[in-house]
Amino acid sequence: MYEEYYGFKELPFNVTPDPRFLYRSASHRDALAYITYGIFQKKGFIAVTGEVGVGKTTVVNAFIDLFQPSLEVAFVFTTKFPFDQLLYLVCNDFGLEVDGQNKAQMLLTLNRFLIEQYENNRNTVLIIDEAQNLSPDVLEELRMLSNLETRDRKLIQIMLVGQPELETMLNLNEMRQLRQRIPGICRIPILSREDLEKYIEYRLDIAGKHNGGPVFTQDAMDEIFHYSGGTPRLINVLCDRALLIGFVSTTRTIDGRIVREGIRDLENKEAPVTQRRNRPM
Ligand SMILES: Nc1ncnc2c1ncn2[C@@H]1O[C@H](COP(=O)(O)OP(=O)(O)OP(=O)(O)O)[C@@H](O)[C@H]1O
Ligand SMILES: [Mg+2]
Repeated sequence: MYEEYYGFKELPFNVTPDPRFLYRSASHRDALAYITYGIFQKKGFIAVTGEVGVGKTTVVNAFIDLFQPSLEVAFVFTTKFPFDQLLYLVCNDFGLEVDGQNKAQMLLTLNRFLIEQYENNRNTVLIIDEAQNLSPDVLEELRMLSNLETRDRKLIQIMLVGQPELETMLNLNEMRQLRQRIPGICRIPILSREDLEKYIEYRLDIAGKHNGGPVFTQDAMDEIFHYSGGTPRLINVLCDRALLIGFVSTTRTIDGRIVREGIRDLENKEAPVTQRRNRPM
């Protein structure tokens, strides 16, 4: 809506986990390095955790984008499925035809597929996002799945991605057998104040910012940090709102006042800002 006014090619603050927009803060870089190491060193299991909206799915997508040609990936989002339903989704995502098969048959189909991938030197990765929803029973079955191996290596790498509750679950005493197989857990923290600024600038650049594009003042950055606490998704929602307010008030300088108005909008869920065009600020 406001892209043209600011001269963007696309919206800078979408809330989709688009890896092209990934700003590599030290911790997002570490997370990418951890995933790459775990997958290519064939650790069997890796786990990435972080609060809601810190960028877990975006980092995983960036990893897939980087290494796509050498990977065979199944990406599933879990709700509270029993294992056989999860297995069905996994097989499906690997492109395997398993309709009507029972659990044992699906496991056999999957095993054959994994050996085939192994023989073709392909790295098979199962990514389970929202893994905090997995039950201990399903986690135990996944551990068994990761036991599929040749003499010298694991046939499938399993990546668990989820909110901090996942880590709590993995630390339960009954989970220790699985926990021991995970080489540390990678935690993605919220952004620091310094990173927040670079993050915003980075996303503006990727969206095509050039001279004459919007300028966020320091005061605006402070307000955004205060509101979002450094959580990227909240930053995006607020920046998007602030840019919209800038657009309707025909200013490309996004200052603290505009951001505060954006916060009020978001908190009060007032009438959309576009209906208030030209009113005095
Ligand atoms: N380092 C980053 N660089 C650019 N954008 C980011 C970064 N981290 C997060 N984002 C953006 O923040 C939003 C939320 O990210 P994402 O969906 O990856 O979070 P999440 O941790 O998977 O959240 P949830 O726990 O709800 O699944 C997305 O729009 C994403 O592009
Ligand atoms: Mg996510």
